[in-house]
Amino acid sequence: MASFSAQIRIITVPWLFLAIIVGSLCAIDEVNGSIVEAHQREFDYFALALQWPGTYCRRTRYCCSSNACCRGSNAPAEFTIHGLWPDYNDGTYPSCCSRSDFDPKEISTLTEALEQYWPSLSCGSSSTCHGTRGSFWAHEVEKHGTCSFPVIRDEYNYFLTGLNVYFKYNVTKVLNEAGYFPSNREKYPLGGIISAIENAFHTSPQVICSHGAVEEIRLCFYKDFEPRDCAVGSDIKIDMVTSRKSCPRYVSLPLHVSSESGGPQGWFADDNEAL
Ligand SMILES: *[C@@H]1O[C@H](CO)[C@@H](O)[C@H](O)[C@H]1NC(C)=O
Repeated sequence: MASFSAQIRIITVPWLFLAIIVGSLCAIDEVNGSIVEAHQREFDYFALALQWPGTYCRRTRYCCSSNACCRGSNAPAEFTIHGLWPDYNDGTYPSCCSRSDFDPKEISTLTEALEQYWPSLSCGSSSTCHGTRGSFWAHEVEKHGTCSFPVIRDEYNYFLTGLNVYFKYNVTKVLNEAGYFPSNREKYPLGGIISAIENAFHTSPQVICSHGAVEEIRLCFYKDFEPRDCAVGSDIKIDMVTSRKSCPRYVSLPLHVSSESGGPQGWFADDNEAL
């Protein structure tokens, strides 16, 4: 039904109207002082992707200064930020929406907070938008941040907004209060973890697992940052299936065991940041 009526609408939209839409998208990019790379429509909602260090850090095979897993006893012990991602309701997302290169100077006043709450959990460099590789932060803001327009208009506000939303919705706290603590022995019901978050934030999260361990939890928000479910309408069914596929019914929340020597720390071979 939905796709049928959508088709009708596309057919009946006058070409002049389409031209106006495309024209105004170009104008937005010009205002931004950037080169148009692709015409991607405005996003539908935000996902705040949170990383569980206990799972990510098992992939660390060697250490480097950029990898927070390598901070020994100061390694992060709570969910940290992966990214604030503009998404579409159909499960796809826009990326690399304007040409603006990451500038560390713009966020110098946030660096300390970002090192603590939005650190890289890998030594690898990440792809940026222009065929080069760069830091974790460069990747997040160039690939995702540029698509948050017009809600978020620049690099500084992208990171500031991510931090603010993260502070407001403390998933680690919610899980602890529900009795789910990091452990290398316990397994917890996936449904219990999802319910704890639903009860606290009135929104249904997406949970991503790796080898039976929670790797990421994603919280979703409307453009005004009111919480919403991570999938809408018919997508909910698909999303539940995806979550089930990725996560078993009982999942672990592994404790990061730091290795002071910086030697091999786990069994996982990949050290990449795919997203
Ligand atoms: C989240 O809650 C945990 C557990 O109560 C706490 O240790 C941590 O400092 C909180 N994190 C933030 C960013 O407020």
